[in-house]
Amino acid sequence: MCGIIGYIGSKEAVPILLDGLKKLEYRGYDSAGIAVLKDNKIEIKKSKGKIARLEDLLKKSIPKGNTGLGHTRWATHGKPNNLNAHPHNGCNSEIAVVHNGIIENYLLLKERLISEGHNFVSETDTEVLPHLIESNYKDNLTSAVKESLKEIEGSYAIGVISTRDPEKIVASRWRSPLIIGVGKGEMFLASDIPALLKYTNRVIFLEEREIATITKDGVEIINFEGKILEKEIINIEWDAEMTEKSGYKHFMLKEIFQETMVIRNNLEDRINLSTKSLELYNLSLSLKNIKEIKKIFILACGTSYYAALVGKYILEELTNINVEVDYASEFRYRKILLDQKDLVMVISQSGETADTIAALNSCQEVGSHVLAITNVRGSTISRKADSVIYLNAGPEIGVASTKAFIGQLISLYLISLYFAQVRESLNFSEIKKIISEFIKLPQMAEIILLKDPEIIKLSEEFCNFHNFLYLGRGINYPIALEGALKLKEISYIHAEGYPAGEMKHGPIALLDKTFPVVVIAPRDKVYNKVINNIKEVKARDTLVLGIATEGDKEISNLADRVFYIPQTLDLLYPILAVIPLQLFAYHIADKLGCDIDKPRNLAKSVTVE
Ligand code: AGP
Ligand code: GLU
Repeated sequence: MCGIIGYIGSKEAVPILLDGLKKLEYRGYDSAGIAVLKDNKIEIKKSKGKIARLEDLLKKSIPKGNTGLGHTRWATHGKPNNLNAHPHNGCNSEIAVVHNGIIENYLLLKERLISEGHNFVSETDTEVLPHLIESNYKDNLTSAVKESLKEIEGSYAIGVISTRDPEKIVASRWRSPLIIGVGKGEMFLASDIPALLKYTNRVIFLEEREIATITKDGVEIINFEGKILEKEIINIEWDAEMTEKSGYKHFMLKEIFQETMVIRNNLEDRINLSTKSLELYNLSLSLKNIKEIKKIFILACGTSYYAALVGKYILEELTNINVEVDYASEFRYRKILLDQKDLVMVISQSGETADTIAALNSCQEVGSHVLAITNVRGSTISRKADSVIYLNAGPEIGVASTKAFIGQLISLYLISLYFAQVRESLNFSEIKKIISEFIKLPQMAEIILLKDPEIIKLSEEFCNFHNFLYLGRGINYPIALEGALKLKEISYIHAEGYPAGEMKHGPIALLDKTFPVVVIAPRDKVYNKVINNIKEVKARDTLVLGIATEGDKEISNLADRVFYIPQTLDLLYPILAVIPLQLFAYHIADKLGCDIDKPRNLAKSVTVE
């Protein structure tokens, strides 16, 4: 879950490496380092902490050279300190390696290498790599890397440079992402697209167990058998501006304010506004396949899992198909009971979450069709899945997912409506009615965003509490979970999401005036039930913040504070209800001075198990 960057060309490497690391910092940020190769010498600088600390260190002396590697770490083996930071080198400082992933058999390899006389300085799993490459080195770096990787178990994306073979960077990957950027007279290596957009939007996606030998003029890619492979250069549509904050204080705030755009992009792209009919691209399921689906499994992690829970409600309501949702990390260790007629959906913003990839693999092994909902073209999940629906959300940089969640919900609505159209579980006028309401969503989201000052005031009132309970029922229960997750991720305040009806079976014992409750209570079919739950809460002297439908007077007599969202169909409320909760978490974290875009201990893409 770290970030890797590499440069080879005729410019000074350090500024490009630093710039790339800043763009990748969201992936991991407990330590960072660079290695630069010049005149038969590799100079390594590394430091514990964020990239800014490395930058300070580099101000004292900047290594010169046109070839280099950079790394921002999210420690798995060994504390985040200067010694464990990457790049790592072998005994003779002739080889430098950056690595993302976990080498599972590192202890055995380390023991063997030590007995052969190698001297280790860090506690990382990674350090076995430079020593192994050193011991396998015969006449060129690519072969030494290839032979070494054959001995490795676990996951890796690596970049390697060596003074013994100086005109190249060698790279490879297995279960961790890595891409190659193609420039003119210069080439790049990165974990993710945003790090490269300033320099090039032409990229090659390295596939698993391919080995790339990158020089300033191009790249040669071979497989483990040494066969040279033909690879396509893909043009990426994102541009560098999309990866800037554009005047917002944080990426997270910018991304929340982009949500209207995300809804609009998806509607314009997939709904024919004059006929109000739907089109879904990249779906390789035939109409017959869709009609025959017996059951749908949706697998995901974190926020994407909460989108899946909303998806269950929508799909069951609109298509009458039974839906099961599971955490990808749990599903992969369950007995897999899939029928050929079951459809598997995986949801992942990044398309690189290791657990979700593993769940996808298990489902494909038993022959299921996997439909992926992801934001990142070219990501591992997008390439492995049988069908892909993209979120059209642009790059999401803030570690806390916001606009991607909206894109995931919209995609789930569109898939459900499309399936309902094909399976005729809804008639045309019912579909038209939902689409007509759907089309109003961007405007409604805009209305909520314009009321941001109201949320700023609410955050001032609520920012000093240490515990929150979020309640919702039915389709809005997952929104309670997501609201609570946002708050804990970025403000470090304890928050729990709960189904409102379950509160009396336990959590109610926690409530008193120090434990505010946020209740999602739009005027939908469970409204009266939720009102009763609010009464139960109020009887315990607890402060209540309600998220309610515009014009609802009843709730204003009960809740201490109310934030109103526009009226819509029951089924569509999650999209509107989550926006104020994202802003609420954001402003509380901002008031508390938290590092919103890079919360402690988290990483944007969880590429380790
Ligand atoms: C969201 O705010 C989190 N940072 C996290 O839960 C995230 O949703 C999860 O790691 C899944 O990521 P993915 O969507 O990229 O697979
Ligand atoms: N396992 C390696 C380490 O702990 C790499 C972790 C990462 O992907 O950042 O250093």
